[in-house]
Amino acid sequence: MKVLALESSCDETAVAIIEGGHLLSSVVSSQIDVHRKFGGVVPEIAARKHLEIVDKIVSASLDEANLSLEEIDVFASTMGPGLVGSLLVGLSFAKGMALAMNKKFIGVNHLFGHVYANFLEYPQLRPPFMVLLVSGGHTEILVLEDWNRIELVGRTRDDAAGEALDKIARLLGLGYPGGPAIQEAAQKGEVKYHFPRPLQEKGNFDFSFSGIKTSVLYFLKKNPSASAYDVAASAQEAIVDSLVTKTFGAAESKGLKEVAFAGGVASNSRLRERANDLSEESKIRAFFPPVNLCTDNAAMIAMVAYEKAKRGLFSPLSTNAVPYLSLDVF
Ligand code: KG4
Ligand code: ZN
Repeated sequence: MKVLALESSCDETAVAIIEGGHLLSSVVSSQIDVHRKFGGVVPEIAARKHLEIVDKIVSASLDEANLSLEEIDVFASTMGPGLVGSLLVGLSFAKGMALAMNKKFIGVNHLFGHVYANFLEYPQLRPPFMVLLVSGGHTEILVLEDWNRIELVGRTRDDAAGEALDKIARLLGLGYPGGPAIQEAAQKGEVKYHFPRPLQEKGNFDFSFSGIKTSVLYFLKKNPSASAYDVAASAQEAIVDSLVTKTFGAAESKGLKEVAFAGGVASNSRLRERANDLSEESKIRAFFPPVNLCTDNAAMIAMVAYEKAKRGLFSPLSTNAVPYLSLDVF
């Protein structure tokens, strides 16, 4: 069974083809350069750019897999969560291909996609396991209880970790997107300052990242000559510390021996270092998808669609985009 999946929930237009859980092609076209001058993703522009390029990315993916459209058995697309205009482009295109080719269609939850990126890299991994999902819009500690079921253990009460990194990078004049910029700056600096790690009571697996952004702002007002590299290293340390300490704490409290990382922020090198240290201490194994599968891509969407297709979980062509799709939907 060959599944072709589209991902267009934010600012990446991506298409991938998978056969029997094996990736045949994965093409990602990023709009980062378009949005950089605005310091963030502009939804209206994002949707228009997806529309301009989606057919070319589908063709590129088919070429890379050396397949024709007729050879695809199932068409899939992210249905949410995400920017509604962006989501609609991939979703409509996938449904259109399914209709035209008289094939099945599957709508996919982007959040399951990020978690499933781990199965592409570690095919032997099996639920249940702990997951830290950290992206620009999401920061959640979850348990993948079963292939189709996620239990929420903790979440951010305000900003997502990626959002906090993006905002701190802007305060430091480090550019966009903030996560990679902070990582690069931090490597040139030292952890010299202490920024808050909120909600540290035992058994609390929620996060709060809006306070650290404010702390950095006040710190910079008081210490205008502090090195941006040192501040970046210190802020990154505080965010990474919160993320990994709570995730391993949650795994311990649930008696789970495996923790998988997912989402754009999971590509952070300091987060990986700290998680590997805690993994050694606690004997809880840590799994990291490669960087190109942590940030938005269609391979992870194809992987979810493949598992849904195996179970006969096809979607009607009336499936709509759901900008706030929850973790309850497989
Ligand atoms: O998963 P993703 O590509 O898109 C969403 O679904 O949000 O995540 C994007 C987020 C951005 O906030 C970006 O700054 C962050 O992931 N990010 C990183 C790194 N690479 C991307 N954060 C920290 N370190 C990185 N190396
Ligand atoms: Zn994402």
